[in-house]
Amino acid sequence: MFQIGRNIVAELRRIPDYRVVGRVTAVLGLLVEIGGVEGALSVGDRCKVKRRDGKAVICEVVGFRNERALLMPFGILDGIGIGCEVELGDTQPQVYPDESWLGRVVNAFGEPVDGKGPLSEGNRPYPIRNMPPSAHSRQRVAGKIDLGIRAMNTFLTCCRGQRMGIFAGSGVGKSSLLSMMTRHTTSDVSVVGLIGERGREAREFIEDDLGEEGLRRSVVVVATSDEPPLMRRQAAYMTMALSEYFRDVGRDVLCMMDSVTRFAMAQREISLSVGEPPASKGYTPTVFAELPRLLERAGPGGPGQGSITGLFTVLVDGDDHNEPISDAVRGILDGHVVLDRAIAEQGRYPAINILRSVSRTMPGCNNEQENQIVSRARQLLATYEDMAELIRLGAYRKGTDPKVDEAIHYFPLIEEFLKQRKTECTRLNEGYVELARRLDLLAEQPEEQTPANGQPAAQTEQAAQQPAAASPQQPAAAAEMPAARPAPPPSTGPKINRGPKVHSRSKRENGKDLNEAKRALRQDGNDAPGGASE
Ligand SMILES: Nc1ncnc2c1ncn2[C@@H]1O[C@H](COP(=O)(O)OP(=O)(O)OP(=O)(O)O)[C@@H](O)[C@H]1O
Ligand SMILES: [Mg+2]
Repeated sequence: MFQIGRNIVAELRRIPDYRVVGRVTAVLGLLVEIGGVEGALSVGDRCKVKRRDGKAVICEVVGFRNERALLMPFGILDGIGIGCEVELGDTQPQVYPDESWLGRVVNAFGEPVDGKGPLSEGNRPYPIRNMPPSAHSRQRVAGKIDLGIRAMNTFLTCCRGQRMGIFAGSGVGKSSLLSMMTRHTTSDVSVVGLIGERGREAREFIEDDLGEEGLRRSVVVVATSDEPPLMRRQAAYMTMALSEYFRDVGRDVLCMMDSVTRFAMAQREISLSVGEPPASKGYTPTVFAELPRLLERAGPGGPGQGSITGLFTVLVDGDDHNEPISDAVRGILDGHVVLDRAIAEQGRYPAINILRSVSRTMPGCNNEQENQIVSRARQLLATYEDMAELIRLGAYRKGTDPKVDEAIHYFPLIEEFLKQRKTECTRLNEGYVELARRLDLLAEQPEEQTPANGQPAAQTEQAAQQPAAASPQQPAAAAEMPAARPAPPPSTGPKINRGPKVHSRSKRENGKDLNEAKRALRQDGNDAPGGASE
């Protein structure tokens, strides 16, 4: 009650005693120049520019030139001309989120856009452009978060308060992966920012991907690609402000943004309009200053608060993972998930390239057995990847290297594990058990062996001990892992596509070791298929 009273007093203080009015002196592109009130304005302030028809367009101060203030609109500039009246608005835009916003869709101003009626406001203001909390006041990133995606949960485990980027070229499955995680996560609350995406996608995301169940514990902030850059940029800030509200009331928030690149593009449009010189690929220095200010707002909260786990998609321009925005974002975040077009083209979704993706909280958040399962799978994938070209061309002869034989055997099994339909969900512990089972690190667990205490059989530690318990002669699963396993018999061998048969080459290479085969292949270079028909 006391808090509400204090808020009312604070609000009353914010009501100005007088009206300050300026005039439009020029309009150029997206910019409105105003005179008469420059002394009363600073960058980030809001103004209302009155159109000729009497309606107002909300604008934000984005700079100053020749002692005039430069404004950009949150709407369209039609109907604004020289001499139009400009009234000063909020100096620090704020939003008053509330628990009842869960299940709702809002725009960059926090106004409802879902046709479900007005939103009730909370009693604590949250600045839309807040500063990230200081590093020493934050708790540490800890405790795994279940995202419901096998590949993520096991190979790229994400912890509460961690910030991860999902990097991919266009159409490789970023939004789909994000929507899967929103639907399947076990986190308390999701705040989803759809920034600069297509209008069609926003609706599909809310109705199909999120569904009623997902929406009930989410707030969605939408600014589609047709909206002005200020709206798109502010939608990203709004997403963070709403996440901060839920964090402060002790919730573990999953904050997702699709995409950070559109935020950067919006900032680029704004900066270029004001005349800021571009630095890299047209992106201005302000873009690179704003990115950490935005992304750092996600993370663990202070004592007694919840956390904001951030998942941010990054559109990788031209599939070049070293383009400036990808590079900058990768440096700020605590992990990156790389989606690969080549994998997507094979129809394996989510198209996560495990070997190129990293979660920086791993392996610290896993127990030893989980780490061993994952590193064993990674090692098999790496061995296969190293030899993939030779295997595909049929230039690798089975039996040459037991490690490669093993990788060939397990590769399709791991690939199958990584594949996940949109509607499918795998819980955190189930993922490790399933992966261990596929890698023959676990014996199949008969149903009657389910522990009598009712604990799920999926408890990795318990399950991993099952083989040892069942057969005392056998070493425990963990002890077995590092040992090289014998290649499986041909009948149980991999069902991989070895590509076209290369009989002549196979004969010629007969007796040579693997390195010679590799060298020969390199010499052939692009002529390899031709060589095959020799
Ligand atoms: N888990 C999945 N299962 C089946 N298909 C999928 C899956 N994930 C993605 N896809 C396919 O990939 C296509 C593109 O996915 P999506 O729209 O998520 O890509 P995007 O990277 O967000 O694209 P854009 O860069 O255009 O935003 C989808 O239309 C769908 O056909
Ligand atoms: Mg998308």
